[in-house]
Amino acid sequence: MFSRLQVVSFRSSAALAQRRLASTKSLKQTLGEVIPAKQAQLKKLKAEHASKPVQQTTVEQVIGGMRGIRSILWDASVLDPNEGIRFHGLSIPECQDVLPPAPGGKEILPESMLWFLMTGQVPTADQTRELSRELAERGELPKYIEQLIDSLPPTLHPMTQLGMGVAALNHESAFQKAYESGVKKTEYWAYAYEDALTLIARLPSLSARIYRNIYRDRSSTPAVDKNLDLVGNYANMLGFGDNKDLTEYLRLYIAIHGDHEGGNASAHTSHLVGSTLSDPYLSYAAALYALAGPLHGLANQEVLRWQLAMQDEIGAENITHDTIREFLWRTLKSGQVVPGYGHGVLRKSDPRFIALQQFCDTRPDLLASPTIQLVKKTFEVAPDVLTEHGKTKNPWPNVDAASGCVLYHYGLREFKYYTVIFGVSRALGCLTQIVWARALGLPIERPKSLSLNDIEKIATSA
Ligand SMILES: CC(C)(COP(=O)(O)OP(=O)(O)OC[C@H]1O[C@@H](n2cnc3c(N)ncnc32)[C@H](O)[C@@H]1OP(=O)(O)O)[C@@H](O)C(=O)NCCC(=O)NCCS
Repeated sequence: MFSRLQVVSFRSSAALAQRRLASTKSLKQTLGEVIPAKQAQLKKLKAEHASKPVQQTTVEQVIGGMRGIRSILWDASVLDPNEGIRFHGLSIPECQDVLPPAPGGKEILPESMLWFLMTGQVPTADQTRELSRELAERGELPKYIEQLIDSLPPTLHPMTQLGMGVAALNHESAFQKAYESGVKKTEYWAYAYEDALTLIARLPSLSARIYRNIYRDRSSTPAVDKNLDLVGNYANMLGFGDNKDLTEYLRLYIAIHGDHEGGNASAHTSHLVGSTLSDPYLSYAAALYALAGPLHGLANQEVLRWQLAMQDEIGAENITHDTIREFLWRTLKSGQVVPGYGHGVLRKSDPRFIALQQFCDTRPDLLASPTIQLVKKTFEVAPDVLTEHGKTKNPWPNVDAASGCVLYHYGLREFKYYTVIFGVSRALGCLTQIVWARALGLPIERPKSLSLNDIEKIATSA
């Protein structure tokens, strides 16, 4: 007799198997094949349903950060408030089942996630390897970028440096050149794709250079190794290539953090900027500066800072549920948010948080780590405290409650750098969407704004 869980997982395996292609085609060829069907679907939707309402918008939504307003076409992922993220319909555990890992590894390779996000199809292990190779071949930084990054003061925040490097990489934008030479609109996507791949390929060397310049010795940084995958190279260039567990963790983190629907601040920013036909480098640089806000990507830095302050204040030997509870209340009463908790959409524990916790559960050294134990203990107390506090709509942890602590345990302790790793990851989703926006010929974004008086007038006459 199969348990319910097994039946569900067998059923989904059969469905998932259909998504796997026995093909040797490249990512660009596969993408070229799936684009026409989507173009046709969009055309039909526009022709048959353009004037149908999607929802009614309330005053609260307009003055409340546009929460829940359905206004962005975004295909690769959908975020359910209770279930969390699904990539092309697959949950994180389902992606972990089907997306190829690195040879000898277990965790999803970001390359396989990129393929899946772009095409909705599961690549074979060989296709993933080919993509790793292609990325490695594109991965070296141009000299002028190295000089630019090396000229920046080490006190400049790593995220500021990353955005500057990404923006400057547009010196070589294939999209911008194609646009200037008058290429047809229907071909935009292919040039956006070239930029997307080159940017994803160069993010590890750019990000590693920033790390080395600020925190380590740059002179011994290894070159991009053509035989390594994206994260294998990234870990190597950071100086952690020998740490297989950290490399696996980074693969998992970067893969599952790559996309989180279209309305989050970084994704929405790249989409908006890209809609002006700014090239993918400039669009993603803008997204990175949204990511650099403490309510968004910077939260992973803030969680670590907060956890360490808690350890310092309470004293490692005095950490109990009661002392954590008191520290949580002190944080809240001083008017600060508890970093790593709450979410704009989610109303349950973030499945990305759960996936990272499961990673920890399989490694005794992580289970024994005081920082990771503190994450777990905080999780046992914080939701009740936040519920009693009564403000947040979601007292449960988001991914950032756990993400930095594992890096810290493995010796990557410079937490001001953590959002850069998030930036390497989020490129997968944002750049996928830029390619698709060009493939679908989406127009420049231009929502309607209203003055306070306008809103009042509309509300009182309703
Ligand atoms: C993520 C976040 C920005 C979502 O904001 P939001 O959609 O406005 O959240 P809510 O609707 O639940 O906010 C309602 C109130 O609860 C507060 N709140 C939300 N999360 C909170 C938290 N973790 N700690 C304390 N207060 C919190 C908000 O600041 C807001 O207070 P206000 O009415 O005084 O302005 C918010 O939960 C937060 O600041 N979390 C901490 C930072 C973080 O972890 N960010 C990473 C997100 S992946």
